[in-house]
Amino acid sequence: MGKSRTIYRCTECGSATPKWGGRCGVCSAWNSLVEHEEGGEATMAPSGPSSPARPIGEVSRGGAQPRPTGIGELDRVLGGGLVPGSVTLLGGEPGIGKSTLVLQLLAGWPERSLYVSAEESAQQVRLRAERLGAVQPDLWLLPETSLPRILATIDEVRPSLLVVDSIQTIGEPSLPSAPGSVVQVRGCAQRLVAEAKQRDLPVLMVGHVTKEGGLAGPRALEHLVDTVLAFEGDRHHSLRLLRAAKHRFGPTNELGVFEMASTGLVGVPDASSLFLTDRRTGVAGSAVTPTLEGQRPLLVEVQALTNKVTSVGVPPRRSAQGIDSGRLALLLAVLERRARLPLGTVEVFTSAVGGVRLTEPGADLPLCLALVSALTDHPLPPGLVAFGEVGLAGEVRQVAHAERRLAEAARMGFTRALVPLNSAAVDCGIGLVRVGCVSEAFAAAGLAPWATS
Ligand code: TYD
Ligand code: MG
Repeated sequence: MGKSRTIYRCTECGSATPKWGGRCGVCSAWNSLVEHEEGGEATMAPSGPSSPARPIGEVSRGGAQPRPTGIGELDRVLGGGLVPGSVTLLGGEPGIGKSTLVLQLLAGWPERSLYVSAEESAQQVRLRAERLGAVQPDLWLLPETSLPRILATIDEVRPSLLVVDSIQTIGEPSLPSAPGSVVQVRGCAQRLVAEAKQRDLPVLMVGHVTKEGGLAGPRALEHLVDTVLAFEGDRHHSLRLLRAAKHRFGPTNELGVFEMASTGLVGVPDASSLFLTDRRTGVAGSAVTPTLEGQRPLLVEVQALTNKVTSVGVPPRRSAQGIDSGRLALLLAVLERRARLPLGTVEVFTSAVGGVRLTEPGADLPLCLALVSALTDHPLPPGLVAFGEVGLAGEVRQVAHAERRLAEAARMGFTRALVPLNSAAVDCGIGLVRVGCVSEAFAAAGLAPWATS
């Protein structure tokens, strides 16, 4: 056993330092260092059962098979379901629908489950459960914030699934700081991880995320858990997207799509048609692209609007919703220099419709098409889709999984696709127009020569 020693822990990022200071040296937060006694045994003691080293081929794969949750879109993201003994962190902004999702998960779980509600009273949960059809005999509810009592209840109820809603609102009285602090959140999570492994119990913890996108406080939790799920969406839209930011049991690039309805979250297996529902064809500044979220192709509409600025001396506005603003700036510069388009003096508004975030390079070409369509006030042909990365020389470069994108576009009734020059031939009933640079793409889409008055 080592001696206990005094350290200073940052309440913002959770990092520890032996010396106090007014500012955290890791995350630069002011006045966030709090004195903390640390037991010497925690620092060096090996954790978990020890086993000798051996050739990797002799290690058994283990019998841990994911158990389907019954929610198709969730299983898709988890790669089949929840693995016994695994710990999953479900993060999202307040009000996005985390409690709704976990209640629906618990309602469909075939065995006994325990829902620890540390934010809402039993009555509130019951009311919501009635709305969701989740009043099931095997769903046990514990409104509790104290970790020792939660652990005692696991012994009593013996559930095969535990959900803690949320990790920020439970506390361990023996820990020095207040509930919600990093020390508490981390301490409680560590304890729950140990319980999950020891009992082979799948545990799902809900965590609130701040506007900036980080898990408030429990950023420091991400390395403790097996899986980190991010639940996103615009609160004013009914669309909700579920992604795995980290997943020890499968790929992290799958996307789950839900719609928030009056009866809870409804999975959307055919997301492309949902994204294109309200689209108006024949309007300038709109382009459709088959983007790829993980393995999943999605058709998304990219919109642009340009406007002549009247005030002199003020830099024109650039707005990007669901599109990276740095990427937009880069593409505007490429269009100005390589296609000689007068974009430097106009206001530019761009948006990926439906609350989606277009972060992959394949969205460059459709964004350029939407911009030029807006600038020339010339709509793109109705049956056209486009994808391709745009380089600084104005060249259109290849992106991954062209075939999957084209198949989805064909399925949704599109007939022509602008694709990078070196794309392989595919036979899926869609006409390919190969373009080597942005100017070629504009000509192929009927946008050139310019008439930008
Ligand atoms: P909630 O699950 O409480 O969010 P979180 O736990 O992430 O804070 O969801 C809250 C929102 O969802 C609330 O604004 C109401 C809406 N909602 C529906 O639209 N339909 C429903 O069936 C339910 C239960 C909630
Ligand atoms: Mg909630």
